[in-house]
Amino acid sequence: DALEQQLTELQDFQVIAHRGASGHAPEHTWPAYEQARAMGADYLELDLHMSADGELVVIHDDTLERTTDGKGKVQDFALAELKALDAGSWFNAAHPERADDAYADAELLTLDEVIDRYGDDVRYYIETKSPDRHPELQRALVETLEEQGLVDAGAVIIQSFSQDSLRQIHELNADIPLVQLVWYSPAEDGDGLVEWTGVTPAPAEIDDADFQAIADYAVGIGPNVTYEGEDVIDAGFVEQAHANDLLVHPYTINNQDEMRRLIGWGVDGMFTNFPDRLNEVL
Ligand code: G3P
Ligand code: CA
Repeated sequence: DALEQQLTELQDFQVIAHRGASGHAPEHTWPAYEQARAMGADYLELDLHMSADGELVVIHDDTLERTTDGKGKVQDFALAELKALDAGSWFNAAHPERADDAYADAELLTLDEVIDRYGDDVRYYIETKSPDRHPELQRALVETLEEQGLVDAGAVIIQSFSQDSLRQIHELNADIPLVQLVWYSPAEDGDGLVEWTGVTPAPAEIDDADFQAIADYAVGIGPNVTYEGEDVIDAGFVEQAHANDLLVHPYTINNQDEMRRLIGWGVDGMFTNFPDRLNEVL
């Protein structure tokens, strides 16, 4: 069936359009999603927050300042207030070389709007953001996806940095493919020594038991690759993840040399703001 088909296709390399083709157009707006589709992305990546009136809104940050003309926390505003914001002009100011007058009309979108428009014509790679602050987000998300038939259509992956969030989703619907995001960064231990820390054990220390604990509920792992120019994973990490039946989808890769390097490590796909660049490399 379609879900089996999705899992089979996940064995091939996946181009994941990070916040849409967000290198070309304002992230999480129609132009970013339309361009991602035109560039042949396999998945649209969506970051989800909840509005004050319980709607699932697609936006990356907790706050409105960076990508809209609003101020404050997303969760403090009702959907109607969020829809009135300009979610595109910031991009024209930040990227004059890619500016387009039409972007000034861009609005924030709800998950429902995106699904209404694309149905199962696209696949969605959905991240639960700040799930601790939105405990009801998991249930609302799974209900929406089930009602729309998108799980059975093999059209969804859910990702999160929060293991709790993914476990809750797994309890609600064990068919949804899940990806555990991890972020490795250096931190000082008690002795003043720098070590790598992350959501899971650091790469140098991650062992089969850690990978197995993730493989218990997830089909893959999504790591950062570098921190301030230094690699935090390597080809061995990818190999070990594979040996534990986990796909590896690193984020967020925009440079073609870096894309080639990671393809050489055997990763199974990657998040990029430039699906066109990735498809050129492939
Ligand atoms: O979801 C993969 C990647 O997007 C995680 O980082 O901060 O861009 O959501 P972030
Ligand atoms: Ca994300």
